[in-house]
Amino acid sequence: MTSSDALPTGAFKISSPFGRRAIALSIAAAVGGFLFGFDSSVINGAVDSIEGTFDTSPFLTGLVVAVALLGCAVGALLAGTLSDKWGRLRVMLLGGVLFFVSSIGTALTFSIPDLFVWRILSGLGIGIASVVAPAYIAEIAPRQIRGSLASLQQLAITLGIFGALLSDALLANTAGGASETLWLGMAAWRWMFLVGVIPSAVYIILSFTMPESPRYLLAKGRQEDARKIFARLVPAVDLDQTMNDLNAAIDEDRKNRSASLRGKALGLQPIVWVGIILSVFQQFVGINVIFYYSTSLWKAVGFDESDSLLITVITSMTNVVMTLVAIWLVDRVGRKPILLTGSALMTLSLGAMALAFSFAEGSGTDVSLPGVWGPVALVAANLFVVGFAASWGPLVWVLLGEIFPSRIRGKALGVAAAAQWIANFLITMSFPVMSSWSLPLTYGMYAAFALLSFFYVIWKIPETKGMELEKTETLFVQKPKKQKA
Ligand code: BGC
Repeated sequence: MTSSDALPTGAFKISSPFGRRAIALSIAAAVGGFLFGFDSSVINGAVDSIEGTFDTSPFLTGLVVAVALLGCAVGALLAGTLSDKWGRLRVMLLGGVLFFVSSIGTALTFSIPDLFVWRILSGLGIGIASVVAPAYIAEIAPRQIRGSLASLQQLAITLGIFGALLSDALLANTAGGASETLWLGMAAWRWMFLVGVIPSAVYIILSFTMPESPRYLLAKGRQEDARKIFARLVPAVDLDQTMNDLNAAIDEDRKNRSASLRGKALGLQPIVWVGIILSVFQQFVGINVIFYYSTSLWKAVGFDESDSLLITVITSMTNVVMTLVAIWLVDRVGRKPILLTGSALMTLSLGAMALAFSFAEGSGTDVSLPGVWGPVALVAANLFVVGFAASWGPLVWVLLGEIFPSRIRGKALGVAAAAQWIANFLITMSFPVMSSWSLPLTYGMYAAFALLSFFYVIWKIPETKGMELEKTETLFVQKPKKQKA
């Protein structure tokens, strides 16, 4: 995923039939990213209605939202192993079926225990999609455009979040409120989940029509089948070279099958810790509090439900647009300046939110922000999303793809992705309880993590822009240990 991979070279043209097919297949695979974004944030518009319908405490509400994320962690760890055994497409199909079934189940849920089951199943689907979609894209992408195609995944995630929040807002507004009855006697919040069957069905159909990953076919010894698929994806002059390179890489992987993540630093290799810590920071700045809870948040500070839903939709549009900016910048400006600018902007905006909420009047669910503090909180929350989406959002995934040595890349990525889901779980779970206790303290804590992330980047993250994938690992291994933040 380096910029040298992204540069079109030689005979390869994006506009050629090969380029167009690779782009089409990558978009198809990225539907998994769309479902990841959709299913993880569709709960946003429904949280309060679930709380009202089932009369849950803040702790239980947090658990209902967050339990899906534990499923995600398990799904991410399982996806790697399963897709090596069954093939990428069957695992995509499994993800699609989990999305489909859990969308219907959640919509028809009748009690908290069965809601938990549906949330966990949907989480397994999200975890699977979070690993299988980028893997499939990397495996079918011609090397010259692999970087840009890999970025489609984060774009799809943000579009999924946007799609979910927009559909939540439309359904709630049509019904006159998320808890009001919409069609067929079902409340609007139930329809929010049911809408998920549409992208799930698309994903299921795609998994039947897409070709299997040629890398998987080669690993299974199916040389001719793999060659036929590659013949449609790379120009004839590159075909033998591509097959030889892949066969060599697969042999290398086989030799290193027993390569372990273990090392002296608390049982793991230092580089694995870098991946885990990047993932944890990405979540500990509290980004998903915005994407899972913002409707309740804005209602709590005095906006009515319809305005709160609208603000949430605007925030998720900002997220999409800024992700495009990051994709454009990443190979031009480099990783490190983008991460540092993002950390600084997030620290300031989260600090401003903490300050604004310290002026909140009232108590319980009946609080409001007086005078300028409402608009200050609103602008600060959106600046925070700008800071995140243009930096840590996409860049953590980019770095996770390029910092690990190839002999441990698969396993290390699985561990770092699982760490990200667990960190996400902790933040999502603790938000309702922490915020009912003190909103300034909650945002102050996220601001502190954003500040720490700034120093961590200065201390530990070397620039990897434009480097060959094989070279990046040496930067991390040779880093002098004495430097202090
Ligand atoms: C993170 C998600 C987050 C999303 C927001 C992704 O990089 O993994 O947890 O919801 O960005 O756009």
